[in-house]
Amino acid sequence: MKILFFTGKGGVGKSTVAAASAWQISQRARVLIQSLDPAHNLGDIFGVSLGDRKRKISDTLTLQEVDLQKLARDYLERETRVLGETYRYLQVLNLDNYFSILKYSPGIEEYALLTSIERTINEETDFDYLVFDTPPTGLTLRFLALPSVTITWIDRLIAIREKILEKRYTIQKIRRPLKEGEVPREERLKYDPEDDAILQRLRVLENNYVRLNGILRGGDCTVVLVFNPDMLSLRESQRLVEGLRELGLPLRLLVDNKVTDRNEEMAERVETVMKQTAPGIALERVPLSDGLYCGKETVLYRIMKDMGDRF
Ligand SMILES: Nc1ncnc2c1ncn2[C@@H]1O[C@H](COP(=O)(O)OP(=O)(O)OP(=O)(O)O)[C@@H](O)[C@H]1O
Ligand SMILES: [Mg+2]
Repeated sequence: MKILFFTGKGGVGKSTVAAASAWQISQRARVLIQSLDPAHNLGDIFGVSLGDRKRKISDTLTLQEVDLQKLARDYLERETRVLGETYRYLQVLNLDNYFSILKYSPGIEEYALLTSIERTINEETDFDYLVFDTPPTGLTLRFLALPSVTITWIDRLIAIREKILEKRYTIQKIRRPLKEGEVPREERLKYDPEDDAILQRLRVLENNYVRLNGILRGGDCTVVLVFNPDMLSLRESQRLVEGLRELGLPLRLLVDNKVTDRNEEMAERVETVMKQTAPGIALERVPLSDGLYCGKETVLYRIMKDMGDRF
């Protein structure tokens, strides 16, 4: 299964290019295109109304707009439940207030998004291509960075937890000698990583993130960066290239969108800089189309005739 992420500054044409690519790929393969942007317009582009559910618009093309707020709510509920089960001893404290504040905590949206992508990758195995239309740059880079950041954190937490368990075992051992026939309590507290629910939970999380990171950095994943022939778009695209490089994510295609006769000179300049910023990465130029409108008859699909062949 191939995974495509369309990224770029707000308004450059991410959704349009993602939709056109998805439609073209669907002429030869089964495609699910999912919008992760809080301000969806995937339905508008294809001229259909979409809920949170998947909607098949042809035998091989399925659309979905993900409800980010609902995702974040579901994510918090799930994590709260797992926390409650893993850390039972914390139930004596009243955690309800803590969790109601947690929903305002930075990072929840990013984790919810990442979890949703992970689930889509794991569950939507009937598709040959998963196409993700991503939210604005900042949020996209943050959620793509999460697996690496989280693995670093989990590693530290595992080390701390192991220390706690070792100390607990040592303290227990030196506390007092056993009376005759007494069942050694230290057996229960003995440092056995397999017995510790917290350590196990950390290891499960770590494995998940390592696996996801492997998929995101792997040969089947492609990040497409869309930009326009203007300086603001260029600057943000340069930052995005840098961010993607730091994260080891596979940028494989640059798309210079909305090029006209009037901005062609600027397009040349911006493309030259982008080629220097991301050497060796393929570049596609897409003209600004006059008659771009929505629905079945849209010329959208024709503005990038061979785009689908790139993937
Ligand atoms: N090649 C093109 N020719 C003509 N119009 C285009 C082209 N590409 C995009 N547009 C128009 O530009 C506008 C922004 O496009 P789009 O919604 O795809 O951008 P986006 O990057 O997804 O924006 P957002 O960051 O808001 O999600 C839309 O009105 C779209 O129809
Ligand atoms: Mg969009």
